[in-house]
Amino acid sequence: MNNKFYFKCKTCGFEIEGFKEWFSNNQKCPECGDNKINTIYHTDKNKLIELIQANQKPESLWHYFDFLPLEHKENIVTEGEGVAPIERWQFFEDYAKRKYNLNLEVFINRNDKSFATGTFKDKGGALAASVMKEHGIKEYVVVSTGNTASAFAHYMARAGVSCAVFVPEDSLPDSEAHIGTYGQKLFRVKGDYAYAKKVAADYAKEHGILITGGNLDPLRLEAKKTQVFEMMRVMGKTPDVYIQALSGGTGPFAVDKAFDDFKELNLFGKLPRFLLSQGDRCAPMAHAWENAKNNNYPNGWEKDYPIYENPVTLIPTIATGNPGMYPFMGPLVRKSGGEIFSVNEEMAVPLARLVGFERVIKIGPASAAGVLGFFEALKRGLIHNGESVFINMGESANRALGFLQEVAYTTEHIRTVADTKRFNREDYRDKLWLPFENY
Ligand SMILES: Cc1ncc(COP(=O)(O)O)c(C=O)c1O
Ligand SMILES: [Zn+2]
Repeated sequence: MNNKFYFKCKTCGFEIEGFKEWFSNNQKCPECGDNKINTIYHTDKNKLIELIQANQKPESLWHYFDFLPLEHKENIVTEGEGVAPIERWQFFEDYAKRKYNLNLEVFINRNDKSFATGTFKDKGGALAASVMKEHGIKEYVVVSTGNTASAFAHYMARAGVSCAVFVPEDSLPDSEAHIGTYGQKLFRVKGDYAYAKKVAADYAKEHGILITGGNLDPLRLEAKKTQVFEMMRVMGKTPDVYIQALSGGTGPFAVDKAFDDFKELNLFGKLPRFLLSQGDRCAPMAHAWENAKNNNYPNGWEKDYPIYENPVTLIPTIATGNPGMYPFMGPLVRKSGGEIFSVNEEMAVPLARLVGFERVIKIGPASAAGVLGFFEALKRGLIHNGESVFINMGESANRALGFLQEVAYTTEHIRTVADTKRFNREDYRDKLWLPFENY
């Protein structure tokens, strides 16, 4: 008997006792067959107040165990994920002041330091693997563009779970090493992400194996909602604006879930405006949004979206060509007062150079798309004077070494010392800023 939490079907209100019942019903509501459920905890909500105090020193996501859907602590699988630093980036604040005369507070959630795979997908991986352990499940199927794949493969291996990973044809090759090294199976599917999802579902069905439940899977949502707790702990507040690269939308859905869970306590204040960026070569949600906005959100606007088959993009990690989540994401963004827009994928390399120079960190292409959202939002006038901005920078360049090679810009091929010159690192600065001064 699970005394800690239960699920409630969002469609018909049916109550599901926990993962045992959920899994045995193939992750569908036994009553109406829908797959959207809310996780509800019996834990006293006031308990969170203590956990988000600035003097707390969490070691991982599991600091928030009381608000995660795992019954017993002995089943925790962890590598210290979920406490990646949230930093203030002065050089972004200076830029906003210099170019737009805005006084902003800019916080970056780095995630590149997350221990297992260096992405914000580690949180979901840790929770999913722990739940598998708790329920004695030994096989799992994941379909992902790359980052969820790597994270789940990693944590499932830790929990002794065989994880079959399906990625689309164009998924970055560096993910393979992260999956194959642990003896997890990688299936690179000839086709796009939507097609990979279909093949993975067929595999799961054929063998009767559990498969990841997509962007609204409680295993992902519940883990990712803890980022709001971390904002409170580190920043002492929630931001006015939340920026992230948008693929399926788990991140923003999870932020909303945290706000919803604690609304009676009014701990977090107002939901931040979601300013979400998609790479311009695969931006179906941005296109749908723009169309809806231009037509003043006509009846049924949220169901009107394009589907792009086999998108060719520089940032495959966030390329969801069939945006099945838009009917939920569109209304959420609207509720928040936010926007969905696209960013120029060709700016990912200049951005990674700038951040690499100013902060001495290596960011991946999907992160770059998210951070570019900051520049785009400023240009579009979507951030206002005095506001605080939180940028969820989801990944390191760990699994994008090809991208990193493109980012590097100082190599010279020489034969003798006569071919060399001394250099001053500072001389690069103006050149690196130029594309953004002209943005
Ligand atoms: C680094 C990074 N940023 C953003 C996203 C988009 O995540 P979502 O739209 O599911 O919140 C992903 C997911 O693939 C990612 O890996
Ligand atoms: Zn139902």
